[in-house]
Amino acid sequence: MNMVDVILKKRSGQALSAEEIRAFARGAADGSIPDYQLAALLMAICWRGMDARETTCLTMEMMRSGGVMDLSAIGGICVDKHSTGGVGDTTTLVLVPLAAACGAKVAKISGRGLGHTGGTLDKLESIPGCSVEMEQDQFIKQVQQIGCAVIGQTHDLCPADKALYALRDVTGTVESVPLIASSIISKKLASGAGAIVLDVKTGSGALMHTLDASIELAQAMVDIGTHAGKPILALVTGMDQPLGTHVGNTLEVKEAIDILSGRAGGDLLAVSLELGSRMLVACGIAADVGEGKARMRSALESGAGLARLRAMIEAQGGDGSVCDDVSRLPQARFHVEVPAPRDGFVARMDTTAIGFVAQGLGAGRRQKSDVIDPAVGLVMDVRLGDAVRAGQPLATLHLNRQELAQEAIARLQEAIVIAEEKPALPPLVYASVTPQGVERMM
Ligand code: URA
Ligand code: CA
Repeated sequence: MNMVDVILKKRSGQALSAEEIRAFARGAADGSIPDYQLAALLMAICWRGMDARETTCLTMEMMRSGGVMDLSAIGGICVDKHSTGGVGDTTTLVLVPLAAACGAKVAKISGRGLGHTGGTLDKLESIPGCSVEMEQDQFIKQVQQIGCAVIGQTHDLCPADKALYALRDVTGTVESVPLIASSIISKKLASGAGAIVLDVKTGSGALMHTLDASIELAQAMVDIGTHAGKPILALVTGMDQPLGTHVGNTLEVKEAIDILSGRAGGDLLAVSLELGSRMLVACGIAADVGEGKARMRSALESGAGLARLRAMIEAQGGDGSVCDDVSRLPQARFHVEVPAPRDGFVARMDTTAIGFVAQGLGAGRRQKSDVIDPAVGLVMDVRLGDAVRAGQPLATLHLNRQELAQEAIARLQEAIVIAEEKPALPPLVYASVTPQGVERMM
């Protein structure tokens, strides 16, 4: 197949055939198509889009570019949850142990931090000793024994996505509904998930900034999953401020432990219950969302969720005693407050910029080869709508290199907008997207 013809065809806005899409996915996976042609086709897809048939076809071909895991030995319906990525968004560490404590089997493949967003694998690895790599049979055994495991992508899952994602990251082609949908769903299908709950973020810290684009992405993913025969649904949730108060790897682990210990709550817990209750419904443990939430809450209050997190950390080689004493997690040496520059109300946050401040302190990678500092990041002291006085802290930096403080303070003071009027507060959940349709909650 001549790739130039395929690029020209998509450039002129035509739909690609199944054979053309297969050649693209295979050529990306085996390296036979040069990066410049892959990049040109990605940009053409970004501009011209793909219809539902093409997007489904691309997803299936990406899934088939590598192995497909067989989780049938676990028994029952394995449920997976995936977020499009956010800031201070550690729902996985809250809801996976709670869902497992309620009897769900959660075999979860997670990702690393990407751009301004954090990644569950980096957070887990910030726990002393905890590993996110294991063989498939061990993964299955752990889910059978304690109900949950969270690991990274193995080498042979979706090699096409690995190649394409790396290129998209450096060619301005991340923000595309067919490319994001095929990337995420191909990995979910290849990892053997029986039922899928998606958290599609919307707002200033999300991949998709507008509600309409986020709903379009959610619909595309639900359509592909349904076509592949999987129970699937998506919630569109707000990312106009960090979801939890803590941003950074051990900081987010600490917040998850604080929540599971009953010492903290807030929006991070609320969204975790919204998603987790739908996971329980998807695998038949709860009859409806209300019952799912009640079960999750009782697993929280009894300490069963925290016990599951401890068991999972220990099964993955980590020091489970961090669950009883969060001071055993790595701590940053310096804490520096970011003062509010004026009186007023917290009116808006550039959540992407806040994520990048944490990355700049060492919580994320600028380049693939960068090494993360597990302990650094920031803790938000305010939320949207809060009244503040000049000099009052907006956030507290946790850092190991004091010389980074000044720039981080300036960038946060710019990212957190203070106005005279109290703003209208954004909802936590904007919409629910199921195979039956879209339900807007605002
Ligand atoms: N996460 C993914 O795995 N893929 C994308 O394209 C975007 C977010
Ligand atoms: Ca995340």
